[in-house]
Amino acid sequence: MLDWSEPTSGRTPLIPIGGNSAPADATGLGTIDRSGGRVGVDDKAMINCRADVNQLLPLKYRWAWEKYLAGCNNHWMPTEVSMQADIALWKSKDGLTEDERRAVKRNLGFFAASESLVANNIVLAIYRHLTNPECRQYLLRQAFEEAVHTHTFQYIVESLGLDEGELFNMYREVPSITDKAAWALNYTKSLADPAFQTGTPEADRTFVRDLIAFYVVFEGMWFYTGFAQILSLGRRNKMVGIAEQYQYILRDESIHLNFGIDVINQIKAENPHVWTSAFQEEVRTMLREAAELEAAYGRDTMPRGFLGLNAASCEQYMHFIANRRCAQLGLSSVFPETENPFPWMSEAMDLKKEKNFFETRVIEYQNGGALNWE
Ligand SMILES: [Fe+2]
Ligand SMILES: [Fe+2]
Repeated sequence: MLDWSEPTSGRTPLIPIGGNSAPADATGLGTIDRSGGRVGVDDKAMINCRADVNQLLPLKYRWAWEKYLAGCNNHWMPTEVSMQADIALWKSKDGLTEDERRAVKRNLGFFAASESLVANNIVLAIYRHLTNPECRQYLLRQAFEEAVHTHTFQYIVESLGLDEGELFNMYREVPSITDKAAWALNYTKSLADPAFQTGTPEADRTFVRDLIAFYVVFEGMWFYTGFAQILSLGRRNKMVGIAEQYQYILRDESIHLNFGIDVINQIKAENPHVWTSAFQEEVRTMLREAAELEAAYGRDTMPRGFLGLNAASCEQYMHFIANRRCAQLGLSSVFPETENPFPWMSEAMDLKKEKNFFETRVIEYQNGGALNWE
């Protein structure tokens, strides 16, 4: 692991950085090569870059820069959403059924720790190996957004007077949540090894595996069923404050997901040796396993189901989403083709069109960065 507090002068080996010097220091914290040439667009690469990673311009990957701008345009804070209706409903005896309370609490428990796991993976595992300044610029924005999302769960716990120890420990104490977190942690653990470096086909694949586990599975599959659960309640005018916050989180996460897909596909294009047919099969297996873990979580959190939502419809949605992610990665489907059981999810994603989705006050931050990624 890179120790950010350590002065660079004390670290060995120190490799000069510069446009034409090779190989460059992937961290961007090595000594400066005073005679190094200027960085040109062609010197830039997603991984194993040989050019100075401190030079944002000239841009090579405009898609990464555009996602950074879109993220900035979507700025929001959880404390700007009123929790009054949620507090009244949560405290009233008959406001929610026991099944609804169980689902809400476990959903919050899943997200509370997951936002932190995703943030730690970005900062401690992905960042130093993604050797492109415009991608790193987006990662810095994303890391802040994950902090805002974690803040959301602190704010919800405080507003509703929930047991904070219970909620923030669910990822260790509720087996169906632990199983998902443990599955993803397997992939970040290998990168967190201080000796890990990309640069061999196997190591490059290890890096892509982590990107798939976190961007495609965690943020792109598991979060989506989590959003559907809460937004389904919001559609019935229940927990509308949390639903509004989830709508903002969903808007952020849809960019995270699409950034991750673009990163993976760009790495594939630049490093075709990584994307072997055996590895493609392995990725399909990962997506299938992830959908099975989500189905188990659905049965655990919604043993009886409630109006508009049950474990079976969530499993169907997971299959629909898993197939969609396969297509985005250029893979064939892992499940038989199925209808989207929650077609309203795409409306929920577009705040510009659906300002009154929950008939609550929506603060409109977006100033031109229309969002149409799903
Ligand atoms: Fe997040
Ligand atoms: Fe995210």
